Amino acid sequence: MIQLDERFSSQRLTLRLVTEADCGPVYVGWLADPEVNRYLETRFTTHSETDIRAFVRDQLAHSHSWLFAMVLTAGKQHVGNIKIGPINPHHKYADVSYFIGDRSCWGQGLATEAIGLVTRIGFERLELNRLQAGVYSGNVASAKALIKNGFQKEGRFRKQLQGSAGWEDHLWFGLLAEEWRVQPNAVPATGTSSTTKIRLAEPPETPGLDSAVTRR
Ligand SMILES: CC(C)(COP(=O)(O)OP(=O)(O)OC[C@H]1O[C@@H](n2cnc3c(N)ncnc32)[C@H](O)[C@@H]1OP(=O)(O)O)[C@@H](O)C(=O)NCCC(=O)NCCS
Repeated sequence: MIQLDERFSSQRLTLRLVTEADCGPVYVGWLADPEVNRYLETRFTTHSETDIRAFVRDQLAHSHSWLFAMVLTAGKQHVGNIKIGPINPHHKYADVSYFIGDRSCWGQGLATEAIGLVTRIGFERLELNRLQAGVYSGNVASAKALIKNGFQKEGRFRKQLQGSAGWEDHLWFGLLAEEWRVQPNAVPATGTSSTTKIRLAEPPETPGLDSAVTRR
């Protein structure tokens, strides 16, 4: 179980569980922002504060997934969410999904850093065997952020998704605990108090993406 008072920190980010206190107009605004939800399935539904609160209550009430707020450690500003789940307890794997709602924070390596943190939580804290993520083929930034954390592209479902500019392939990325453990940036976590301090070494350079992935 991940506790409400737990904090997982890296160089610039702290992850904590999203609570109802986060479910205000800013959060609603993120989900309604066409730039933010361009590659998110949430765009197919209009979200109100009420249904986001219900969603967050459900997340907190069950351990089938963990919804974290990405908080800038410096200003304590909530800038987006990252989720581990749904978790398959039998096969010990889970999806990873994320969005940075504050677009002024894009392009600064925050998604890469957040994925690094959640990967550690998934393998060390939740003792999962595998993490996976699905990405629209046009979402180059998201694919790069996964690859920088050692995720491998494992599959492509051709024209599976309706993107804003036509059909898109659905790319699947995966990372195994055994792969993560031997990664240079898999620095052991220090401290086990309710504030688990995680130190991440510089993420490696982005290996070449499959040339077919074009940025829309
Ligand atoms: C996708 C998203 C999470 C990326 O977050 P981010 O913090 O800007 O990503 P990072 O800064 O960690 O960038 C990761 C890599 O992508 C590159 N990148 C960032 N934006 C890019 C863009 N628009 N085009 C091409 N590459 C881009 C970065 O340069 C970096 O690669 P590099 O270090 O090799 O240069 C963010 O744009 C977002 O939240 N979008 C809306 C929701 C969404 O699409 N979520 C993902 C669903 S799968």
